[in-house]
Amino acid sequence: MKNIVIRSAEEKDLPAINDILNYAIEHTNYNLNEHTRSFKEAQQWYAEHMAEDYPVIVAEKEGIVVGWASLSWFRRFSGYRTTAEVSVYVSHQYRHKGIGTMLVTELERMAKKYHILIAVITDNNTASLSLHSRCGFIPMCTFRELAYKNGEYVSVTFMTKKLN
Ligand SMILES: CC(C)(COP(=O)(O)OP(=O)(O)OC[C@H]1O[C@@H](n2cnc3c(N)ncnc32)[C@H](O)[C@@H]1OP(=O)(O)O)[C@@H](O)C(=O)NCCC(=O)NCCS
Repeated sequence: MKNIVIRSAEEKDLPAINDILNYAIEHTNYNLNEHTRSFKEAQQWYAEHMAEDYPVIVAEKEGIVVGWASLSWFRRFSGYRTTAEVSVYVSHQYRHKGIGTMLVTELERMAKKYHILIAVITDNNTASLSLHSRCGFIPMCTFRELAYKNGEYVSVTFMTKKLN
């Protein structure tokens, strides 16, 4: 897709970032939260990422934020500091146009200090499984019925990419 700019997120992008996330929470089980994220929680999430040097980036088209991605702590144990978890979300009107691939590619460029990137993907999320495969992630294991949302158990696949 033309005219997409990928850049670091700023505080002013948080309403758009949060709308895109909350759409996925409300309409899918791809994100396993059952309640949408408040703006205050989004501010806290962003502040934590900035304080701990985890990147948050956005895809912008003609001034509108149409997607975002971040790296986050995988688990908050110090021994996991060489691993970062990828999150990537594209506004539903702009999917399947290459924006997710652009975001993950840029995140990877910013991720040089990590050894492993990990994506935690619900097993029915074909788009995310394809996106991460396309970006060189390998499915490592699937945990059957690991989570529960919208009245059903959800299986979850861990995909990783070794960077160095
Ligand atoms: C997953 C997501 C980020 C992909 O973003 P995107 O901009 O549509 O991805 P791209 O256009 O770069 O496509 C990447 C790959 O996914 C495939 N893909 C995209 N949408 C798809 C769909 N609806 N069904 C099947 N494959 C799909 C593309 O075909 C492409 O693979 P290919 O090169 O082998 O054809 C997007 O669908 C999304 O935001 N989903 C909801 C949130 C989410 O699930 N986030 C990930 C949580 S782990």
